[in-house]
Amino acid sequence: MASLQASCTILSTNTRSHSFSTQPLSAKPSYLFTRPRRSHRFQVSCDAKKNVETSQGKIDRRNMLLGLGGMYGAANIVGNPSAYADPVQAPDFTKCGDAHDVASGDALDAKCCPPLPDKITDYKLPPVQIMRIRPAAHRASSEQVAKYEEAIRRMRELDTTDPQDPRGFTQQANIHCAYCNGAHDQVGFNNLDFQVHNSWLFFPFHRWYLYFYERILGSLIGDPTFALPFWNWDNPKGMTLPPIFDNTNSPLYDEKRDPNNRGSAVIDLTFSGSTDNLQLVANNLTSIYSEMVRSVSTTNDFMGKPYCAGTNPSPGGGSSENGSHTGVHWWVGTKDTTGPNKYNEDMGNFYSAGRDPVFYCHHSNVDRMWTIWRDVLKTDVPKDITSENYLNAEFLFYDENKQLVRVKAGDCLDQRRLGYDYDRIDLPWLNYRPPKKATKAKVSNISDAKTAASVLPINLKKTVRVIVPKSAKGKVDEQLMLENIETDTTKFIKFDVFINDEDDKIEELDRAEYAGSFAQVPHKSKTKKGTANISLRLTSLYEEIDVSEDDTVVVTIVPRSNGEDVTIGGIKIVPVPARSS
Ligand code: C2O
Repeated sequence: MASLQASCTILSTNTRSHSFSTQPLSAKPSYLFTRPRRSHRFQVSCDAKKNVETSQGKIDRRNMLLGLGGMYGAANIVGNPSAYADPVQAPDFTKCGDAHDVASGDALDAKCCPPLPDKITDYKLPPVQIMRIRPAAHRASSEQVAKYEEAIRRMRELDTTDPQDPRGFTQQANIHCAYCNGAHDQVGFNNLDFQVHNSWLFFPFHRWYLYFYERILGSLIGDPTFALPFWNWDNPKGMTLPPIFDNTNSPLYDEKRDPNNRGSAVIDLTFSGSTDNLQLVANNLTSIYSEMVRSVSTTNDFMGKPYCAGTNPSPGGGSSENGSHTGVHWWVGTKDTTGPNKYNEDMGNFYSAGRDPVFYCHHSNVDRMWTIWRDVLKTDVPKDITSENYLNAEFLFYDENKQLVRVKAGDCLDQRRLGYDYDRIDLPWLNYRPPKKATKAKVSNISDAKTAASVLPINLKKTVRVIVPKSAKGKVDEQLMLENIETDTTKFIKFDVFINDEDDKIEELDRAEYAGSFAQVPHKSKTKKGTANISLRLTSLYEEIDVSEDDTVVVTIVPRSNGEDVTIGGIKIVPVPARSS
């Protein structure tokens, strides 16, 4: 079975990379890894075999990476355009530093390092005796809500009785801050952040995080059946802030939220700005269907791009991470950028998101979307990433007994093995396809469209329209690639992409011309600049707008948030890579 999953590639623009020496090796082996080099590009393949065969026999790839391969290891690298990567290793808590805000130089309230452990043990999944069934927050019973509130109250209490207790509310929130704002470095690469967003680590990291959080809450109230509710934002009935979080007397309340987005306000997952509730619901359902099905060509499109030891920590998030997931963070967080909460606290910035109890309920639904992707969706895209570099990526968490444990991404793929599952609820977005276009767009009506070559790289200060050649005529399976999307990582970014859009009704996403979106939650990191690539599958869109016989299409990119902080380096349309079953 051929794999079409992308591998970890492309590290290395100037200063931040460690790279192999290309000189014949005469220095000590460790020299290979300790000296950052400038402006040298090499490729790291995430999917290389564990043991590398050389004329001198097998060399363990990890030893080779560590420079222990001696001359043979080095010889294998020299003159070989690809080197080999390893999975990211669990961070070293003793090296944790403050979360960074290089961008503004502001002193962030972001000292979020975890307590230091006596020892670390490899986590063994306990046998599943009772399945915890996570309920939708808006349908949770009064008993479930009462238990949830009591558990959170006890968790908050630990903040005062024992601030170093890793089960405490602030300690739990700090986990997110440390793994997301550059407090942890990658082991062996102290100029690269350990970052759990914008890559294939996103789903497994957050699954493990919630797993331990749920077990801690359950153990604080002595209830092994305790299950974390999910914010059912993919169903119209769940498209408001769940009322249990909106009660000012509840421990589930957080005052650092957008005051406009509570009560009966309908969530705007797509940053559309529409004030029409029915339109908001339609936009939400459209974008969820798009990020789950319509725009997805490959496993990595949904799961996120490869991230291995020594590679770019933010290679690009999956469609769900970039989509609804980001929309919820943006919608809940504060919007005033001048006051004391100018970093969109709490939900609107990774450093503070875990301080709002609704964060965990939101991520419970994000996690549920992953289970739906694996268990429910029938698509031609393989569901799981099979790379060892994904399966063996490691994280550390404190469990409900305050023991620090090491877990692997590959051990959390089936939620039932972890002892929980989700209440089954309708999926109204499933097959929420935009209606076919009644008449073919007159592309010549679309003013100011230019050829890609003449405008790239292009900034998104305002809407851009670019003429892009298709790869072939007829019924083709194609995807639009947006490459080298450079963003300011400290800002909320969102843009939408349309094909042959002559109507420009930008508040309406439920139209055949809508191809997909990109969005990013602000976070602090060692560099202010992030780079990502996205691909959006066009196959069903082509049918819906009837362009099979055309040679070119017009791609319209509409900025929704901080377009001036986005530059796109490449736009092209290519065939979807061939896939075997
Ligand atoms: Cu770790 Cu929704 O973010």
